Amino acid sequence: MTEPGSAPSFRSDQPGDSAQHALLVSILDAQSELPGVRRLRRWTLAALAVRPGDRALDIGSGTGSEVVALAEATGPTGAATGVDPNPAMLVEAEARAAALGVPAEFVKGDAYDLPFPDGSIDAVRCERVYQHLDDPARATAEIARVLRPGGRVVLVDSDWSTSIIHPGDPEVVRALSDSWLSQTTNRNSGRHLRGLLTAVGLVVDDIGADAVIWDPGVIDTMFRAGTDLSVAAGVITAAQGDELIADLHHGVEIGDYHFSVTMFAVLAHRPNL
Ligand SMILES: C[S@@+](CC[C@H](N)C(=O)[O-])C[C@H]1O[C@@H](n2cnc3c(N)ncnc32)[C@H](O)[C@@H]1O
Repeated sequence: MTEPGSAPSFRSDQPGDSAQHALLVSILDAQSELPGVRRLRRWTLAALAVRPGDRALDIGSGTGSEVVALAEATGPTGAATGVDPNPAMLVEAEARAAALGVPAEFVKGDAYDLPFPDGSIDAVRCERVYQHLDDPARATAEIARVLRPGGRVVLVDSDWSTSIIHPGDPEVVRALSDSWLSQTTNRNSGRHLRGLLTAVGLVVDDIGADAVIWDPGVIDTMFRAGTDLSVAAGVITAAQGDELIADLHHGVEIGDYHFSVTMFAVLAHRPNL
C-alpha cells in the first residue's frame, strides 16, 4: 500500500528524483516485512498455482520480489515477467533478481497497454497498483485480454477507507482520514476488485483478506506527513495534529495503539471458450 497523500508518489504520471525513488523502495521493503502482507502474498502464490513451464506476469512489479517468487515456480521452461512503467524501479528489480541468480524478466510497460499478445499468459498478479490507477476497468480488460482461456489472475489491493487509527480524538481522526484519503486515487480500491474482474467476463473463484497492521515507527513519518497535510489543508489545527501524534505515542507507551488497513486479494480465471 501507499501512504495516502504523501509525496513521493507511485503514480506513473508523477515521476520523482533519485532521493524520492530511494524512499519509495524503502517503503516497499518495509511493507514487504509486514506480517499481513507476507500472509497475503503466500495466499496469492498458492492461489495462482503457477506450474513449471507457465508464463506468469506481475503488473506494477515494484522491487520485483514477487516476480522472483513466480520465476521459482515457472522454472527454466517457463517465464516470469515484471511490468512497471517506472524505469528506476525496473533497474532496482533487475539488480535484485540478478543478485539472487533468478532468471526473472522485467519490461517497461503499463497496466493499460500490456506488451503481450492476446491469450498468451497463464497467470497474472497485480498488487497494490489499482489504488493508483485512474481507470481500473481499462486495466482489468487488459488483463482479460492477455490471459489464456483457463488462465488465472489475483488482484491485491488495500481499501483505505477501512483504516483504523487509535487512540486519538475521534473528530480529529475523522478529519485527518478524510483529508488524507481524498488524495488517494482509489481509496476504496479493495472492495471493487471482484466487480472489476466480473465485469470483463472473468470468473471469481476465491477472495482472501488480511488486515495490515502497521508498527509504531510510522507515527513520526507517515502520520506526521498526514497531519502536516491536513493542517496545510486547514481541516485540523497544528495543535490538534500535535495532540494526535502525542496521543498515538502515549498509546504505544501503554500498549494501546492500533493502525490497520484491510487488504483484499481476489482470485479469478478466464473461462474456457
Ligand atoms: C505501491 S507500488 C507496489 C509494488 C508491488 N506490486 C508491491 O506490491 O510491492 C505500485 C507500483 O505500481 C507501479 N505503477 C504505477 N502506475 C502503474 C501503471 N499505470 N501500470 C503499471 N504499474 C504502475 C509503480 O511504478 C509501482 O512500482
